Amino acid sequence: MVASRGAEIHGLTGFFAVLDSEGRSHVRSLRDFTGSVRISPVPGTCVIGLQWGDEAKGKLVDILTENHEIVVRYAGGSNAGHTVVSGGQIWKLSLIPSGILRDGVACVVTGGVVLDPASVIGEIDGLESRGVTVAGKLRISDRAHVVFPWHVAEDRLLNASVAGGEAIGTTGRGIGPCYRDKVGRALAIRLGDLYRADFRSKVEHIVGIKNRMLAAWQTADGGPEPLDAADIHARYAAHAERLRPFVTDTTAFLLDAVEAGSKLLFEGAQGAMLDIDHGTFPYVTSSNSSGLGVSSGSGVPGRWVNRVIGVVKAYSTRVGGGPLPTEQDNATGQRLRDRGNEYGTVTRRPRRCGWFDAVATRYTARLSGVDELAVMLLDVLGGFDAINICTAYEIDGRRVTQFPSHVDDLKRAVPVYETLPGWPDELTTVRDYAALPANARRYLDRIGELLGRPVSIVSVGPDRDQTIFIDRTGSAPCAKPKSRTPATT
Ligand code: GDP
Ligand code: IMO
Ligand code: MG
Repeated sequence: MVASRGAEIHGLTGFFAVLDSEGRSHVRSLRDFTGSVRISPVPGTCVIGLQWGDEAKGKLVDILTENHEIVVRYAGGSNAGHTVVSGGQIWKLSLIPSGILRDGVACVVTGGVVLDPASVIGEIDGLESRGVTVAGKLRISDRAHVVFPWHVAEDRLLNASVAGGEAIGTTGRGIGPCYRDKVGRALAIRLGDLYRADFRSKVEHIVGIKNRMLAAWQTADGGPEPLDAADIHARYAAHAERLRPFVTDTTAFLLDAVEAGSKLLFEGAQGAMLDIDHGTFPYVTSSNSSGLGVSSGSGVPGRWVNRVIGVVKAYSTRVGGGPLPTEQDNATGQRLRDRGNEYGTVTRRPRRCGWFDAVATRYTARLSGVDELAVMLLDVLGGFDAINICTAYEIDGRRVTQFPSHVDDLKRAVPVYETLPGWPDELTTVRDYAALPANARRYLDRIGELLGRPVSIVSVGPDRDQTIFIDRTGSAPCAKPKSRTPATT
């Protein structure tokens, strides 16, 4: 027997059709076939930022949640800040998936996340105080590694001590040191450990070691205060009690869910350019923030993901250190910052702004296995006479379109621009692709062409409603690419 083209069928019901050797059709439960038949995947959608974060992933996830049953956050921690605007209300989320704003949706924080309990509790309280139900909807993995005060202290110290100069400009939330201890294992504590009898002795052991390490950073001007194991244990034990109803084995939950045909939406944090392995290292975050991190972070194999949406801003921003090749440290950059309100959600730092970089985003679209593009904040470009897109870099006099693997080469990259005509109109009230000014459509077409993927969603304002869905059977701005191999040299 072979499985039929069953994606639509079992995606909805948990059952699908099989054909026997005579071509007769039978309906079977998915569970009858575990391990024995290659089954078409249930729709699992990923939303992945393709730049340096803040691409408006939160807005998109909130919208797409309507068509999904479970929203999954799989990497990063309280370094993320996602703003969702709906009906004049502004919601700022960090670790809790943006899906929490919809009823009847399960939200899952998986083991790939690093979790600061006080921060999550603050988010839960903030949501519940505004009438959003969190109890019964939120599940947090007992495998998630916990951010402790020593991680925050180390983050502040190490951020200023990068070998080679420029500070990473972290969010100061202890993310890097927590992931480092996870990989190092000996000094790591996972959420599930907080409920075990030896939690107190673990904290005492680690605090003893961390205090000796932190003492080495003492200078004449002072340094970090020594940590108090009893105080930390008491605070985290209280946090653990508060979080107890939410803590569970999310890997088992998600595997059961996909096998039963639930529709999952994976919410990316950060952007692919900040990926620890494939981004602009060392000016990155400490997790696989590209599409490559979805499976390892969530525990859901890639075979259950069949739609990857790459999210880009219509221009570039970056907050923190490291190269941003198309940066406009001038009046143009300031205009983008003002029109786009480009100030960090978490730290309120002004974001660095520049033109759209098709070399960088083409690389991250390929890296993340992107099928289609969402171009956000297009309204911000209204009123420019001309708009630049970076289509290549010149590095030491050589023109390249392959994204450099070493940050020193990227630092020397001079963008090669293609200039497109701008449009004077405000786009914030446009709801149809066809109603966009011709030059705005041309700009979207060009992004789709350069990245080799169709633009299927366009955002023209922060509100849920300010979104254009492009019917690819009708007015698609560009055809689905025949090939995903590089179109440029
Ligand atoms: P995320 O981290 O990727 O979720 O993005 P952030 O929420 O940190 O940053 C995106 C910002 O842009 C937020 O303040 C959103 O409210 C806002 N935003 C989202 N879409 C649009 C849009 O189409 N136009 C404008 N002007 N702002 C938008
Ligand atoms: P969202 O999910 C933008 C940046 C920091 C810094 C670098 C490392 O809102 O898109 P970290 O604290 O992670 O060790 O900092 O990564 N960074 C982000 N920039 N958006 C984010 O998340 C970010 N998360 C981390 O500014 O440069
Ligand atoms: Mg953000």
